[in-house]
Amino acid sequence: MASEINNKEVVLEVKNLVMHFSSKKRGRTHRVKAVDDVSFNIYRGETFGLVGESGCGKTTTGRTLIRLYNPTGGEIYFEGKPLHGKMTNELRKYITSNIAMIFQDPIASLNPRMTVQEIIGEGLKIRGVKDPEERRKIVVDMLKKVGLMEEHATRYPHEFSGGQRQRIGIARALVTNPKMIIADEPVSALDVSVQAQVINLLNDLQEEYGLTILFIAHNLSVVKYFSDRIGIMYFGKLVELADCDELFKYPLHPYTKSLLSAIPQPDPNHERRRKRISYNSKIHKYDEGENKPHYFEVRPNHFVYCSDAEYPAYQAEVAEIEASLKGEQA
Ligand SMILES: Nc1ncnc2c1ncn2[C@@H]1O[C@H](COP(=O)(O)OP(=O)(O)OP(=O)(O)O)[C@@H](O)[C@H]1O
Ligand SMILES: [Mg+2]
Repeated sequence: MASEINNKEVVLEVKNLVMHFSSKKRGRTHRVKAVDDVSFNIYRGETFGLVGESGCGKTTTGRTLIRLYNPTGGEIYFEGKPLHGKMTNELRKYITSNIAMIFQDPIASLNPRMTVQEIIGEGLKIRGVKDPEERRKIVVDMLKKVGLMEEHATRYPHEFSGGQRQRIGIARALVTNPKMIIADEPVSALDVSVQAQVINLLNDLQEEYGLTILFIAHNLSVVKYFSDRIGIMYFGKLVELADCDELFKYPLHPYTKSLLSAIPQPDPNHERRRKRISYNSKIHKYDEGENKPHYFEVRPNHFVYCSDAEYPAYQAEVAEIEASLKGEQA
């Protein structure tokens, strides 16, 4: 998917990424295709929402991008530099100083035996800040930025609420001054009121630092107000990718349509008429002969993963959409 959007600069390029695990079940080796031929670009300063149901491979995608896993196949480039090759100390350092991850589970990802100062300060040591007093000052600054206080620095993770722990995770990710953040469901474990606070915080930090964000969520409504573009994942595949507004107005892939149909509508009249659309991946018949899917740009910057045989139907749907758009404008 080489298309450029208005000459925006590509920061991260992911090409045909594959991450398979093998697991043993009753003595037999079983292959899990957690990520299977996924391609997308992320542009500087944008928020890219990666959405799909539980187990579809979102976390695995994020973790593979920063090489917590060795990809089974495919290519990853950050500012043109390949991240997929042999792991070296130099490459590890390059990745950690450019991309940081806010992990999905704030409790499991914070070491219970370390104070907040130590947890956040670790990244600074890697960045080469040797003076402990300087580290303390930077950590306190960072705590304030994420809405925590100086006295929190000496406490341990279990002394915090879920929302506060998520803020510690954000502070830890930001303190290394990364160019890109992978935020893995940073708000799903939180109360609705705290969710909005954390999203606003990420928004503010993005404006202040010009951060690029890969925002992972299983719920489309969470990413709607936050993402510039959205990629929809289904069982290891990225099935549709488009600008946020475009995706909500003109979803093309049947799985995207089913996700959208699951969102409750605030307007009671619409809500009464809302029909859940179910999706069955067998309709594509991809296991049969030559019928293999790949990415098609069906409208400018709007990609659908489909086979040659399916493409004409999408084209027809797009033609209808465009005709109705013209009608609206006239
Ligand atoms: N380390 C691993 N070893 C073996 N299988 C794994 C491993 N990590 C993930 N998987 C499997 O890969 C698939 C994708 O998992 P992943 O955690 O990426 O999904 P997810 O989209 O992040 O789900 P959720 O929304 O629940 O967080 C699942 O079937 C999972 O069981
Ligand atoms: Mg996950």
